[in-house]
Amino acid sequence: MRQQDQTLQTVRIWDGPLRLFHWLLVAVVVAMYVTGWLGIEARLWHMRLGYALGALLGFRLTWGFLGGRYSRFRAFCYGPATAWRHARHLLSGTKAPPGVGHNPLGSYMVFLLLLLLAAQLATGLCASDDILFQGPLHHLLPVRWGRLLSRWHSWQSNVLLAAVAVHVLAILLYWAKGENLVKPMCSGWKDVPAGTPQTANLWERGMTLLALWLLAVSILLLAYG
Ligand code: HEM
Ligand code: HEM
Repeated sequence: MRQQDQTLQTVRIWDGPLRLFHWLLVAVVVAMYVTGWLGIEARLWHMRLGYALGALLGFRLTWGFLGGRYSRFRAFCYGPATAWRHARHLLSGTKAPPGVGHNPLGSYMVFLLLLLLAAQLATGLCASDDILFQGPLHHLLPVRWGRLLSRWHSWQSNVLLAAVAVHVLAILLYWAKGENLVKPMCSGWKDVPAGTPQTANLWERGMTLLALWLLAVSILLLAYG
């Protein structure tokens, strides 16, 4: 730990696998939009990337229990009153001490993004373009349900896009207020109040878990894809 001044010190907040997860997620989600919008020609890649998204979300679910100190779900479960206090602080223009981990307001956005991504994955697995491609669960459903979930998949992709836009705007707002959240999501390190415990990088555990999720998804793909 590098001491910066009397009140702040640089501490590793985000473990390596969480940072890798985030930037891989960004790449996969951008590619999902591009291949979704390109239509039928890119649909095979849309489906393939969908399985990668499944492995990433599976990893994040388990990392919420087995991950580093600040990646665990229990580290960022806040009540609405705490989130409201944080929002008022943010809008009041006063400079708050830098937060550790996801802040009380940001944590709601994190859960919303993960929920929307899980729903996008679930509806994608049940969707069909009625021409060439269908998700692996589509044939298990009555025709009416398949159509409904395909429409839901298409409609919800816009909701997810709006949520991502809010996410990025919020990060810009914090940056304008003097708190750079992107640097810690890249390097892991953040200047936080002295005495804040740091997290281990946990690469071995994280990579093993990610490999297990990729294996599980590949087995499902071979069996049902
Ligand atoms: C497709 C676009 C994106 C998606 C789906 C996405 C999703 C997420 C999710 C799920 C988290 C929570 C991480 C976790 O604990 O699991 C997160 C956090 C974060 N994201 Fe993104 N993200 C996207 C784009 C971006 C971009 C473009 C930036 C950079 C400008 C960014 C910067 C961050 C930062 C800094 C955090 C940590 C926030 C904090 O300190 O609480 N994200 N993002
Ligand atoms: C973040 C994740 C995802 C995003 C953003 C996304 C986005 C999109 C978009 C924009 C479309 C075009 C909708 C239209 O033409 O109106 C689409 C169609 C489709 N997606 Fe996804 N998708 C995602 C995940 C998945 C997954 C995981 C699968 C399955 C493995 C999947 C399977 C399909 C299928 C079969 C279609 C054609 C549906 C139709 O034509 O009605 N998608 N997706």
